[in-house]
Amino acid sequence: MRIDVVTIFPEYLEPLNVSLVGKARARGQLDVRIHNLRDWTHDRHNTVDDSPFGGGPGMVMKPEPWGEALDSVLESGEGRPVLVVPTPSGLPFTQELAVELSEKPWLVFTPARYEGIDRRVIEEYGDRLDVREVSIGDYVLAGGEAPVLVIVEAVARLLPGVLGNAESHRDDSFAPGAMADLLEGPVYTKPPVWRGREVPEVLLSGHHGKVARWRRDEAFRRTTANRPDLIERCDPAALDKHDRKLLAELGWEERADGRFGRSASAVEE
Ligand code: ADE
Repeated sequence: MRIDVVTIFPEYLEPLNVSLVGKARARGQLDVRIHNLRDWTHDRHNTVDDSPFGGGPGMVMKPEPWGEALDSVLESGEGRPVLVVPTPSGLPFTQELAVELSEKPWLVFTPARYEGIDRRVIEEYGDRLDVREVSIGDYVLAGGEAPVLVIVEAVARLLPGVLGNAESHRDDSFAPGAMADLLEGPVYTKPPVWRGREVPEVLLSGHHGKVARWRRDEAFRRTTANRPDLIERCDPAALDKHDRKLLAELGWEERADGRFGRSASAVEE
C-alpha cells in the first residue's frame, strides 16, 4: 500500500518510522511519503492560511497550495487514491472503515491546521476521487496530524503480513465476526501470582471450551460497564442461552424482539 501525507508539520509524522508501521515500511509492505505543504507556496513567508470570508475567529487554509500539492502527488502515482481528510466534522472512524481503507492500494491524507481547509479543495477533488472526511472522535484537536497517525496505524496492522500472527486481529474489539461488537476482556501472562494477585484459575486449566466461555463472559461484563450502547445493538441471533442468562444477571432486560435494554433502575445505579 502507498500512503502520502501532505502537512505543514512533517516532523509530526515521525512516529510512522517506529514500531509496527516503521517495520512495515522497512519491509516494503508500506510506502509512506510525507510532503511539506509549504513546498507549494510561492511567497516569502510560505503562507498557507488566510482570514475566513464572512468573518469569525481563526484562519482558513488557502486552496492554492493544497491544489498544487495534491495535483503533484496525484501525478506521481498510478490510478486514483482515496483522499482521507481528517476533520472533527467527518464520519466517525471505525474498525469497519479501517478494514475498507486497508483494501485500497493508495491513500492520500490531508491533515489541516487552523479552522480547516477552504471547502473548494474538498469539492474539487471530490469530483475526481473517493474523498472520505473522517473524525477520530468527539473532541477537537489542534490539527489532523494525530488523527493521521491513528488512522494509518489502524489500517497498517490489517495489511497482509504486517501483524506476525494472522489470527491476531480476529478477536479484536470491533472486529467483524465471532466476538463482534463486544469489547475484549482482560488478559494475563506469567507469573501466575503477582503481588498476591492470582490469574483467574480457568485460564490455567487448559480447558479451551471453558476459557472461551470465560472470555466471552468477561467481554459482556466489560461491554456492559464501558459501552452499554453496544449491548443494546447486539444481534439477538448472536446470543446463546448462557449469554442471555449472564446479561440478565448484569441487569439487562430481554425485550420482545430478543434485544436487550437496561431497566430504569439499573440505568440509575
Ligand atoms: N482534527 C481536529 N480534531 C479532529 C478529530 N477529532 N478527528 C479528525 N480530525 C480532527
